[in-house]
Amino acid sequence: MTVYSPVISRHCQAGQFVHVRIGDSFNPFLRRPLSIGPCDGDYLRLIFTVKGIGTKILSEKQPGDMIDLIGPLGKPFYLPDEKSCPVLIGGGIGVVPLLTLDDHIKKAVFLLGVQSKTSLTVDESEINQRGISIASDDGSIGFNGNVVQLFEKTLQQWSGTEKQKIIVYACGPMPMMIALKSVCAKFSIKAYLSLEAPMACGVGACQSCVVRKAKAEGYYLVCQDGPVFDAQDVELQP
Ligand SMILES: Cc1cc2nc3c(=O)[nH]c(=O)nc-3n(C[C@H](O)[C@H](O)[C@H](O)COP(=O)(O)OP(=O)(O)OC[C@H]3O[C@@H](n4cnc5c(N)ncnc54)[C@H](O)[C@@H]3O)c2cc1C
Ligand code: FES
Repeated sequence: MTVYSPVISRHCQAGQFVHVRIGDSFNPFLRRPLSIGPCDGDYLRLIFTVKGIGTKILSEKQPGDMIDLIGPLGKPFYLPDEKSCPVLIGGGIGVVPLLTLDDHIKKAVFLLGVQSKTSLTVDESEINQRGISIASDDGSIGFNGNVVQLFEKTLQQWSGTEKQKIIVYACGPMPMMIALKSVCAKFSIKAYLSLEAPMACGVGACQSCVVRKAKAEGYYLVCQDGPVFDAQDVELQP
């Protein structure tokens, strides 16, 4: 969905999200969080899969319809310096904030994992244009395996010194993030993870979107302290 929103598109940073009011009725009552996709001037893209009532209603909007967004919300990705080697790793629809990040980074390695060719979350022209390497669980497109396995295979091509320059930026389902965090820890690779959590308010008031802190007691709020976290700072749970 392409949305005309000059204020958000011109002030957002990669990794931030909008909280979308679905419609005028009370069903659904709560807004839904969606990552801010690539922006072009006064326009931004929202890319989503239909999960339930909110995304279903959103998918039925027509050109010219108005939607109510709060944003940009949350903390963005930290951009890499010129000496580092950024590696973007998306799982399914988690690719969205990485598309926006890719627009701000020159020469990133970009990996995307999907279940199969029929569940691609980016169209083929964009895959080619951005040079995205695909992994599919059923082997129907690209690497036969999951995207973390593809990342491990890609790592074999880098020397020890080069590995130290890698910064991973990732967004995807929790099992992927847990496996990726473990691989990054094994090779001492810095990783920033964009996490998803069910959200009610989206602005730090309701405490519904917690993730446990790894280095201290207590919890972070994904909407306010994230959604992007240093992998070492959060304890991920299946
Ligand atoms: C910061 C952030 C950014 C997001 N960006 C995107 C995006 O760019 N594109 C996109 O397609 N989705 C994104 N999501 C997920 C999206 O918010 C949910 O899919 C959406 O809220 C579901 O609303 P619904 O009314 O369609 O489904 P509901 O009727 O609310 O739920 C349908 C099913 O989906 C499950 N579900 C709901 N929310 C989530 C969630 N956050 N994670 C996993 N399962 C969930 C529910 O438990 C239920 O089983 C993002 C979530 C967060 C927190
Ligand atoms: S969604 Fe309310 S505190 Fe995060």
